[in-house]
Amino acid sequence: MMLTVNFNPFPTIETERLILRKILMSDVEELFLIRSRIETMKYIGKPLAITISEVEELIQKMNDNLENNLGIAWGISLKNESKIIGSVGYHRIEKEHYRAEIGYQLLPDYWNKGIMNEAVKAIVDYAFNNMKLHSIEAKIDPNNIASAQLLKKNKFISEAHFKENYFFNGEFIDTEIFSLLNKN
Ligand SMILES: CC(C)(COP(=O)(O)OP(=O)(O)OC[C@H]1O[C@@H](n2cnc3c(N)ncnc32)[C@H](O)[C@@H]1OP(=O)(O)O)[C@@H](O)C(=O)NCCC(=O)NCCS
Repeated sequence: MMLTVNFNPFPTIETERLILRKILMSDVEELFLIRSRIETMKYIGKPLAITISEVEELIQKMNDNLENNLGIAWGISLKNESKIIGSVGYHRIEKEHYRAEIGYQLLPDYWNKGIMNEAVKAIVDYAFNNMKLHSIEAKIDPNNIASAQLLKKNKFISEAHFKENYFFNGEFIDTEIFSLLNKN
């Protein structure tokens, strides 16, 4: 039996300080800010966004994936503001293995306030209780101390370190794999 997921209607999530909501075409300017900053993209292993139109394409792709239940991204906004300051989601879902890969990014102005910890807690809970995943994977650059700390704080375990398995910008980069199992 294979896992089935259904993101329709979109599962908006409310936490103490945040609203995790669908990313709309009208969020393109804010998502561009997030995708074009060296600080937010440094360890992502993808090129910086240069144009608004490529971020429009990204939103289109996110929405296609959502409609086809292939992946989900939530925009992160503070409760008293409508603009998004980051994103979090599961972009690769391996339905046959009840497993998905988590990803997250936050604008630097909002770092170190526990915001991503709050968002990750909420979507881990969603993954295990609503999506019924068995495990969540995170692939990070081992130099990304903030990301490793965030994962450890959420009980993810470091399971593997691949040496120079990722070629980006003319360099071979290591990958550290973390995972969290659903204990229920
Ligand atoms: C990783 C990231 C999302 C963390 O978001 P954040 O909201 O600042 O994280 P939090 O405030 O919830 O902090 C979570 C934990 O990480 C720690 N932490 C955060 N930034 C840190 C840093 N630069 N160095 C060391 N620890 C750090 C916090 O202290 C906290 O742990 P603690 O409670 O034990 O002290 C943010 O730094 C970011 O967007 N980075 C760029 C994008 C990125 O690299 N994404 C991940 C790709 S795998």
